[in-house]
Amino acid sequence: MEDIGGEQRYDQSPVKKLAILTGGGDCPGLNAVIRAAVKTACHRGIEVVGIQDGFRGAVEGDFRPLGPKDVSGILPRGGTILGTTNRDNPFAYPTRVGEERQTQDRSDEVMERFKAEGIDALIAIGGDGSLSIALEFAKKGLNVVGVPKTIDNDLMCTDLTFGFQTAVATAQDALDRLHTTAESHHRIMILEVMGRYAGWIALYAGVAGGADVILIPEIPYQLESIAKAVQGRARLGKHFSIIVVAEGAKPHGGEMVVERTMPGRTDPIKLGGIGAKLAADLEKITDMETRVTVLGHLQRGGSPIAVDRVLSTRYGVAAVEAALDGDFSMMVALQGQDIVRVPMAEAVHKLKKVEIDDPVLKAARSMGIEFGD
Ligand code: F6P
Repeated sequence: MEDIGGEQRYDQSPVKKLAILTGGGDCPGLNAVIRAAVKTACHRGIEVVGIQDGFRGAVEGDFRPLGPKDVSGILPRGGTILGTTNRDNPFAYPTRVGEERQTQDRSDEVMERFKAEGIDALIAIGGDGSLSIALEFAKKGLNVVGVPKTIDNDLMCTDLTFGFQTAVATAQDALDRLHTTAESHHRIMILEVMGRYAGWIALYAGVAGGADVILIPEIPYQLESIAKAVQGRARLGKHFSIIVVAEGAKPHGGEMVVERTMPGRTDPIKLGGIGAKLAADLEKITDMETRVTVLGHLQRGGSPIAVDRVLSTRYGVAAVEAALDGDFSMMVALQGQDIVRVPMAEAVHKLKKVEIDDPVLKAARSMGIEFGD
């Protein structure tokens, strides 16, 4: 068979119009993906439309054309020029009937709208929730390519999601700052970071920021082990300790701390508060003054760092190339140094957690960082 490479290969693609949306929680690098995808598509004469606010815009028909001018200057910008939401699933779309809140399956309308607009394929940039919805559309016959987004880095089949490394850098900066005040006041300083049910942000930020204790959801903690670690440091003349706690961390035999439940979201559980609980518990048994900082959405905001800009750009280009190749229901992913395509079905509905033999976890343990087990 004749080997058709480069531009010529894409000239023969049946895909002439692409739609792109960003779904779920925002993260640094979304605009870099959009920019790369739009530039790559337009360079090949492919039309692109942006869908506003994730799948809400798909239901409501909130589309806008995207060309090189629209993506000019957005590479360093945080957030997403398209807007996003972590509710509004078209398969269970929130509707008000009088005073009552109900949900309706409006996915058929989305399919019809895409057909009417002449959209040949959708690039869905999202985490587990949004990509699961995208996969449902793929099952209905929509041509979909997924791009793995989330600061949590908890998507399967990819070494990295974009946004994660920027979130880690933000948390590391916070830890550097907490160090100096912790040392001056001889305090225990706790930093609560995001990550949902996975400890990637806590682990990497803890190692990068020189934490003494790292608590992650994958390793339930014993209060006594943490107390022993901070008291051991005090005996060596270090009268302060830095603890990074993932929002999903929990005590041995205990539960995660839920800030509130929000029905209608792709994940109705909003975690938060473990830092305050830990501080209160630790102060009681160590008698050391303890303070808590909840880093929150600062981890999601702001400009992506260089490695995330590069990764996002590679993902944006690769997603368009997959679409033009007609390689649908696939997610672009980083494996080693390479961007590959993996079946979306293998990447969703199961979270990538920190394994007990993770090399970064092992290195941290080897140098005496306490994990509370
Ligand atoms: O999934 C990204 C994430 O930032 C999680 O780390 C966090 O638990 C959640 O989103 C917070 O969601 P919200 O934007 O609703 O506060």
